[in-house]
Amino acid sequence: MSTTHHPQPLTAFARDVLQGLSGTPRKLSSRYFYDEQGDKLFQQIMRMPEYYLTDCELEIFERRKEDILRAIGLEQFQLLELGAGDGMKTKVLLRHFLESGADFRYQPIDISPNVLMELEESLRAELPALQVKSLPGDYFKVLHELRGGGGQPKVVLFLGANIGNYTREEAVSFLRSVAAELNPGDRLLIGFDLKKDPAVVLDAYNDPAGVTAAFNLNLLRRLNRELGANFELQGFKHWETYNPLSGEAKSYLVSRKDQHVFIKALNRSFHFEAWEAIDVELSKKYSISELESLAEQSGFAVQEHFFDRKGYFVDSLWRR
Ligand SMILES: C[S@@+](CC[C@H](N)C(=O)[O-])C[C@H]1O[C@@H](n2cnc3c(N)ncnc32)[C@H](O)[C@@H]1O
Repeated sequence: MSTTHHPQPLTAFARDVLQGLSGTPRKLSSRYFYDEQGDKLFQQIMRMPEYYLTDCELEIFERRKEDILRAIGLEQFQLLELGAGDGMKTKVLLRHFLESGADFRYQPIDISPNVLMELEESLRAELPALQVKSLPGDYFKVLHELRGGGGQPKVVLFLGANIGNYTREEAVSFLRSVAAELNPGDRLLIGFDLKKDPAVVLDAYNDPAGVTAAFNLNLLRRLNRELGANFELQGFKHWETYNPLSGEAKSYLVSRKDQHVFIKALNRSFHFEAWEAIDVELSKKYSISELESLAEQSGFAVQEHFFDRKGYFVDSLWRR
């Protein structure tokens, strides 16, 4: 009998970390921000005065909910939400849709089971008449499994400027993959943070209370906890930049000193030179013409834009 030991296969998280930290420049994906602690910190970010995104989208839903439902214009539909999070803003739409007698079932999809559990509990308490089926997992896996199922038209929500986490090219391929899982006539309501005064953008990701810094550094804490890494959190600094030309706000974790970090799950040590940066998040801002060409390139037709009063943000309704 053979006694050869095979190393444990790496989890998807460990694989992504290995790939990201082995490349140049080093990268860690922002999708891993959201562990239990990360979910809580993000909820705190959404309540900060500098983080205008949440207030803008909330205002759009509060002021335009009738128009949004009218523009969707479907008698019956499945309402799917990609990366639902705590659903705080979505609840405004859900309540209005219910009160208007719309015939729909809400299916929030999220990779974080904690956040979905909390969402379902709060929906049961706040909107007991709502039909909910939460779907834990990756957007595409879940969307693919739902393909063709039920026969009812789909309305997909992709809110909170999540699309901004992708580069322009990645956004096209993401949206094409969404389009591929939809039928002609299905809708996508998608949030975009718009180009604006660069100072306003920068403040949103660089709050004086340091909540964004804590949120980004939590990624290293997660690596420590889940992959047995030994990152010293004070050894890294949160740094934010905004390029008004590309509309890219970028977050980095910068090594304050020359240091080695060992990651047990990878059985590997990584050397960081002093002031070497890890790229951790992109939050791309769009102009209207850019987002309209994005829709066209990815197989959607723009139906209507819904703006907040300041014109900082848009929820755009697209038709497959
Ligand atoms: C920035 S939060 C936004 C939450 C909410 N949509 C909002 O606008 O407030 C992003 C959410 O997407 C989820 N998420 C990120 N990547 C995902 C993926 N590939 N599949 C499913 N959920 C994902 C995260 O767990 C998180 O709850």
